[in-house]
Amino acid sequence: MKFFIDTANLEQIKEAQDMGILDGVTTNPSLMAKEGITGTDNIMKHYVNICNLVDGDVSAEVIATDFEGMVREGEALAELHEQIVVKLPMIKDGVKACKYFSDKGIKTNMTLVFSAGQALLAAKAGATYVSPFIGRLDDISTDGLNLIAEIRMIYDNYGFETEILAASVRHTMHVIDCAKLGADVMTGPLSSITGLLKHPLTDIGLEQFLADYNKGN
Ligand code: E4P
Repeated sequence: MKFFIDTANLEQIKEAQDMGILDGVTTNPSLMAKEGITGTDNIMKHYVNICNLVDGDVSAEVIATDFEGMVREGEALAELHEQIVVKLPMIKDGVKACKYFSDKGIKTNMTLVFSAGQALLAAKAGATYVSPFIGRLDDISTDGLNLIAEIRMIYDNYGFETEILAASVRHTMHVIDCAKLGADVMTGPLSSITGLLKHPLTDIGLEQFLADYNKGN
C-alpha cells in the first residue's frame, strides 16, 4: 500500500519523507490556499518545491473545467517536473482529458469521485489513479469505506490497472480499513500517518526495557 500525504505544507511533507515511508503527495486548490499559496506562478513554483522534497508522484490539480483548458493546464503542469500527476475533476470533460493524457503517457488522478460508476469511467479512461473521497462521504452519513470495497471488486473483476487512491482520509482507522479492503494508495494528513505509531503498550514496554537495562549500568 502506498502512503501519500495530503497537504501543501512543506514541513509536514518533509517530516513524512524523513520517516522513509512516503510514496507521494496529493494537493488541491484548498490545500494550497491554506498554506497561503495563491496565484498561478506561485502555485506552479510550489509544485516544483514539493517535487524536489519527495521521491514519488505529486498530484497537481487543473482549475479549468473545459476540455481545452484542462489539456492546456495539464500539459503545463506535466512539464514542470517528471513526478507531476495531472489531477482532473470527475466531470465529462475531465474524463475526456483523462483519456487524452493517458494516450500520451502522462499520469492522471481523477478526483472528486463519490460513486462506483464514476470510478468505472475513470478506469475506462485509463486513469493512473482514481480518488474516492471517503471522509466526505462519511460526513454525509454514507459509508465511504463501502465505496472502496465496491471499486476494488469492480476493478478486480476486469483487471483494470487504475490504482485506487483512497482520498479524504481523516484518521488512522480509515488507513487501516483501506488497507484491509485493498486500496492501492491512501492519502491523508500527517496525523493519519504518525497516528499509526501510537500504542501505549509500546511506550510502557520501551520504558521498562530502558529501566531494566539501566539497572546494570
Ligand atoms: C484528495 O486528493 C483531496 O485532496 C483530499 O483527500 C480531500 O480531503 P478532505 O475531504 O479532507 O478535504
